[in-house]
Amino acid sequence: MRGAGYQSGFGNEFATEAIAGALPQGQNSPQRAPLGLYAEQLSGTAFTAPRAQNRRSWLYRIRPASQHPPFTLLQNTRIVSDFHAMPPTPPNQLRWDPLPLPDSATPVDFIDGWQTMAGNGSAEAMSGCAIHVYAANRSMQRFFYSADGELLLVPQEGRLAIATELGMIELEPQEIAVIPRGVRFRVTLLDGKARGYVCENFGTAFRLPDMGPIGSNGLANSRDFLTPHAAYEDIDGECELLAKFGGHLWRTTLDHSPLDVVAWHGNYAPYKYDLRRFNTIGSISYDHPDPSIFLVLQAPGENPLLGAIDFAIFPPRWLAAEHTFRPPWFHRNVASEFMGLIHGVYDAKAAGFVPGGASLHNCMSGHGPDAQTFEKASHSDTATPAKVGDTMAFMFETRTILKPTPFALDGGLLQNDYFECWQGLRKHFDPDQA
Ligand code: FE2
Repeated sequence: MRGAGYQSGFGNEFATEAIAGALPQGQNSPQRAPLGLYAEQLSGTAFTAPRAQNRRSWLYRIRPASQHPPFTLLQNTRIVSDFHAMPPTPPNQLRWDPLPLPDSATPVDFIDGWQTMAGNGSAEAMSGCAIHVYAANRSMQRFFYSADGELLLVPQEGRLAIATELGMIELEPQEIAVIPRGVRFRVTLLDGKARGYVCENFGTAFRLPDMGPIGSNGLANSRDFLTPHAAYEDIDGECELLAKFGGHLWRTTLDHSPLDVVAWHGNYAPYKYDLRRFNTIGSISYDHPDPSIFLVLQAPGENPLLGAIDFAIFPPRWLAAEHTFRPPWFHRNVASEFMGLIHGVYDAKAAGFVPGGASLHNCMSGHGPDAQTFEKASHSDTATPAKVGDTMAFMFETRTILKPTPFALDGGLLQNDYFECWQGLRKHFDPDQA
C-alpha cells in the first residue's frame, strides 16, 4: 500500500492524504474531487447524533464502494450473531482451553478462523455483542467488512498487518485495534500463524470512559490511541469481498481492490492502542477499588446504571494495599464477565487459565480466587509492596447475560472440572476466635 504511519488521539477530527493534494479544501463534495477521485461519506452514527458523539468520515477513493456485483449468501457454521436462539445458559462458572491453531495442511485465514464463543442481543437489533476467538495460519487473500458491528481485536499470538480502507495498522499481542462498523480490511499474518479474541460490538461504539475524581489524566490516555494515515492500493483484477450483514456472511467479487482510499478526513476511523501504555491506578492505603479502575474502553448503553460493554485489562502493577487480601476478591456482579489471558499468569488463579484460554462468569454467578490462591494470599506479608509483573489479562463485561454457543458448551474446549478450583476452600469459621 502507498502511505504509512499513524496520527495520535482518540476520536479526533483527522485529515490525511497519501498523495499531496488529494484532499479537497474547504468543502466535502466538490463538483470534481481532486485527482479524479470519488467522494464518499461513511457514517457511523445517526446524522443528528449529538456533536460530541457524532462519527463520520469523508473518503476520496479511486472507485466508490457501491461498484460491485450482487452479493450471494455463504454457508457459515462457526459465526453466531443472534443469541436469542442459544441453548439454555447454565449459571455455572465456565472456562475454556485455547482454540487450537489449525494444522499446517489446512489453510485457514483470519475470517475462516473465527469461532463464536458467547454473546448477547443480536446483530439485527444492533444491540449486544458477539465474542469470537480466532486461530489462523494463512493471510487473507480477500477483503472483509462487518455491517453488524465494530470489531475490537485482541491478538494473543502472532502479529497482524491490517490493511484497511483508511490505512494500515500493524498489531502485536498486548496491543488492541478497533475496526469501525463497515470499514473494509484484509489481514496478513506476519508470523505465519495467529490466535486471539474479537468482540463484535453490535451497539453504540466504544469510547474512552469518563474519569470522575481521577481527573483528566490516567487510565488509557487519548494520545496513545493511533489512527493510520491514509494508504491505498491501485490494483485492477479479481478481488473477493466478504460482508457480514444481518448475521450472515455474503460474498461478491470486485474487479479492483476496495482499499483504494487515497485521502480522507473525519473522526470515524480504525485505531490501535498498546495495552502496555495503560496508566494503572490502584489503592495506596488499603482494599481495592472496583475493577472499573482498569477500564480501557466503554460502549455505553441506554441505562447508565447497567452499562453495555466494558473492556478492561489486568496489566502488570504493584500491589501496595496493607492488611488487605490483595488478589481479586470473591464477588457476584450484575454484569457478565468474559475473560481472556493474553500473556503470563492471572493473579487470581494458580492454574488452568492459560494464555489463549477464556472464562465466563455470568450475572450473579459467584467466583473469585481459587483455593490455592486464597490460602497463599491470606497469609502473605502485606507490609511491603509486591509486583504482579508477568501478566496481561482482559475482560469483556456486558450488561446482559453472555450466552455460550453450542460450540462453547460442546466443542471440546470446555474445562468440565473448573468448578473444583473452589471446592478446596476450607471452612475457617470459629465463633470462639474473637
Ligand atoms: Fe469477576
